[in-house]
Amino acid sequence: MAKQEDKFKKVISHAKEYGYVFQSSEIYDGLSAVYDYAQNGVELKNNIKEYWWKAMVQMNDNIVGIDSAIFMHPTIWKASGHVDAFNDPLIDNKDSKKRYRADVLIEDYVAKIEAKIEKEVTKAAKRFGDAFDKEQFIATNPRVIANQEKITTILSRMGKSLEAEDLADVKALIEELEIVCPVSGSKNWTDVKQFNLMFGTKLGASADSAMDLYLRPETAQGIFVNFLNVQKTGRMKIPFGIAQIGKAFRNEIVARQFIFRQREFEQMEMQFFIRPGSQKEWYETWKETRMKWHNSLGMGAENYRFHDHDKLAHYADAAADIEFKFPFGFKELEGIHSRTDFDLSSHEEYSGKKIQYFDHEINESYVPYVLETSIGVDRMFLAVFSNSLVDEELENGSTRTVLKLPAVLAPTKAAVFPLVKKDGLPDLAKEIIDDLKWDFKVAYDEKDAVGRRYRRQDALGTPFCITVDHQTLEDKTVTIRHRDSMEQERVAISDLKIIIDDAVNVKNWLQKMK
Ligand code: GAP
Repeated sequence: MAKQEDKFKKVISHAKEYGYVFQSSEIYDGLSAVYDYAQNGVELKNNIKEYWWKAMVQMNDNIVGIDSAIFMHPTIWKASGHVDAFNDPLIDNKDSKKRYRADVLIEDYVAKIEAKIEKEVTKAAKRFGDAFDKEQFIATNPRVIANQEKITTILSRMGKSLEAEDLADVKALIEELEIVCPVSGSKNWTDVKQFNLMFGTKLGASADSAMDLYLRPETAQGIFVNFLNVQKTGRMKIPFGIAQIGKAFRNEIVARQFIFRQREFEQMEMQFFIRPGSQKEWYETWKETRMKWHNSLGMGAENYRFHDHDKLAHYADAAADIEFKFPFGFKELEGIHSRTDFDLSSHEEYSGKKIQYFDHEINESYVPYVLETSIGVDRMFLAVFSNSLVDEELENGSTRTVLKLPAVLAPTKAAVFPLVKKDGLPDLAKEIIDDLKWDFKVAYDEKDAVGRRYRRQDALGTPFCITVDHQTLEDKTVTIRHRDSMEQERVAISDLKIIIDDAVNVKNWLQKMK
């Protein structure tokens, strides 16, 4: 656990030190659970969004994108169920006066049992060496089985109680598990209460005529209310999807875990409109497609897993998370939800407008069903950033900190150095940059010895360093150094574009989804 915490602290400090993420309003002591993306962070974030958008919108001729407004008619949130049901169950500790999400307290308890299982597996793997069969061990070891059963019992009881709004039982579960407040260490809990997560605001100048609005807590509703517009103007035929990337706002109670849980964050959502009855099939298809997208980035299949929801949101008939192994354990990165016709039917009812699709293939009109994929940009950022940050021991006994970002997502693709600040080498380096910058984000660095410049670019996650030296003046070749292998090769300046492009081209990465 301490190791995990150290790693997480290192992620946060590295993100600040290397210009990726800053606390919002830092000079005023910050604003809790709100963050700013810095000069490198914004590039990484934009690259993540582009990687998603291309996979969704560009590569699928039946998916189109929109960018709807954050302000929406307030009745939308009544129709969507968010006014009545977008709540978190809260519990206060009477001694520390700290407030927690009751479900998160229980999930943290479960995470401790999971850590025990993992410890048991690691110990056994060491004991049995190459002969170790992890799956068999998990299926047969009595301690592991008992702990797995414990987890299932706890989560299914919590799911059922939350579903039935039986908050007294959620409290009873916390008490039975003897969960203590992490601050006071006491079990002196209040009752569990529901708390709505939407931020309210006002539209209009005068106090009497101002309209109460909400900041959208998900981008999805902007898609639903534009369903007819897009379907008609785009002449879309079911099955088809509408994708959107945009900000969402939630008054989160558990304001910790850095950019994992923020009050202002960004979502990449896609609503896929389908024929009623085909939802099971599409649910499986999209689960598989999204997992392939994640795996195409090469961050280790073992770092992802599906988690089927025990408690379904008010709109869903099936739902699963893609969880990622963050520095604080496996947590939700993306949600895949079978939303039925809940949203469109509800908007039909509240707006009084018919929201239906005439299916020429079966000669029938219906309210389409919806399959949703929804991923947080910030969580994806944290997944990529934390997974890439490693301290590596080198053969000469020294260590280096390197951010092994998938090259396609790296903010800067190459840094160009003159070996020395004289003899025309800086001018030549800048000439190379002037050519490369039409295709890639590139940086120039002439400060310090080349070895230190390499280390700086390693820590920034730059896949290539290109050094211009005296030989360059004679034969137009440079040294290119690869971030991960640290290998260096001599190549012609005229080949640089091809070498870099091969490593960072979206096509080469997305093709791995096939
Ligand atoms: N439209 C469905 C929806 O919003 P959700 O599971 O509440 O579903 C989807 O959110 C994704 O948005 C999550 O998987 C997560 O990646 C991201 N997300 C949700 N709340 C967040 C928060 N407070 N901070 C950062 N990301 C968040």
